Amino acid sequence: MNTRETLSVTDSGNLQIGGVNVKELASLYGTPLYVFDKAYIKNICAIFSDSIKRFYGNGKIFYASKAFSCKEIYRIIKEKDLGADVVSVGEIFTALSSGFAAEDLCFHGNNKSASDLEYAVKQGIGYIVIDALSEIDDLNGICKQLNRRQKVLLRVNPGVEAHTHHYIQTAKPDSKFGFSIENGDADIAVKKLVNADNIDFCGLHCHIGSQIFEKTSFLIAVDKMTDYYKKVCEVFGAKLSVLDLGGGFGIYYTDADPKFKYVDYADYIKAICEKLNDCVKSKSINKPYLILEPGRSIVGEAGITLYTVGRIKQISGIKNYLAIDGGMFENPRFALYQAQYTVLAAEKGLDKPTKSYTIAGKCCESGDLIAENVKLPEVNEGDLLAVLSTGAYNYSMASNYNRNFIPPVVMVENGKSYICVKKQDFNDIVRNDI
Ligand code: LLP
Repeated sequence: MNTRETLSVTDSGNLQIGGVNVKELASLYGTPLYVFDKAYIKNICAIFSDSIKRFYGNGKIFYASKAFSCKEIYRIIKEKDLGADVVSVGEIFTALSSGFAAEDLCFHGNNKSASDLEYAVKQGIGYIVIDALSEIDDLNGICKQLNRRQKVLLRVNPGVEAHTHHYIQTAKPDSKFGFSIENGDADIAVKKLVNADNIDFCGLHCHIGSQIFEKTSFLIAVDKMTDYYKKVCEVFGAKLSVLDLGGGFGIYYTDADPKFKYVDYADYIKAICEKLNDCVKSKSINKPYLILEPGRSIVGEAGITLYTVGRIKQISGIKNYLAIDGGMFENPRFALYQAQYTVLAAEKGLDKPTKSYTIAGKCCESGDLIAENVKLPEVNEGDLLAVLSTGAYNYSMASNYNRNFIPPVVMVENGKSYICVKKQDFNDIVRNDI
């Protein structure tokens, strides 16, 4: 089980998160229910921010809000003095509606339309990350027309691609994201940016992958990115001052993953900062403003999802299907990636696991599962189930598939809970239907 301080089991075997009994949460808000521990989010934000200050000095954490976007999360990260990475006008709008400063946003995406770019420029967005050649022309024209200048970063592909538990140093230039350094595509974009009159070309960006546990891939990326940073400044005459190394720090889903403590995340940042400091010295480049964009590691382990057990179907000699009131519409990660999760019988925390269950969702699709062959105590219809580490890429990837309602989101802190995204109802389902 995830042993974060956020989760505990009471003497009667009930799961608690942030000091609130999940039974109470289920009866107050219903199930399925996304629950986030605010203290965990605040703590990990502080760890990331303090580490970048302590080990590097000149930099900022931009939370990758694709992991979980709603007004409340922007309010929380703003309070912790983080910026945010946004990838659509919808995320920009949500951030701004929460009172987030546009200049603290960094706008990514491989296909930002001219109208997306215009919207971002008009809002006064901090950085736009260039990811296509024609985007440079569009953005330059928009800035000219609006009589504004826009700070941009260029997304490059440094040839390091990290996957869970390992990395490939010679990643192929074939990616829909970024411009390859290796095949010269990045040089073409750099030349274009240097000549764009209304754009301030400030720096370089890369993102090498997600759910990464080893530091080596990040360190190789720092080396390759600083090599290229030097080339762009010295050969192409750009006045760069920003290096954005993306996100990707891994989290604990099941016992197959390392169980990182806060201090382990600080170590990640320390290693990156030390490597960058070394590269700055040895390569004689100016010390860039460092941006890191963790998403999953800020919200992933802070979140759990609560379900009520529905029908249990025992297929003799094969398996026990345990159906929940959720499924791929609120957590599509098993269906998409065979993502693994820890599942708990939320009121039977003291009972021994005796039976194997496959947790099935309620969508009309055989692949609609949340986890396969998980060991639980004997559970019955009406029992509560908790799936752990669902804070990242669950609510943000939810849909109304089969016209199911997207569940509400609740924050807990110091024994209290409050709603931050309301439950959908019938009206939401037909809101845009003519
Ligand atoms: N920056 C950029 C440019 C990214 O593309 C991403 C994630 C991040 C930062 C944040 O990475 P993180 O720290 O969360 O690993 N839907 C997938 C994950 C897709 C990640 C896409 N990019 C999942 O459910 O696992």
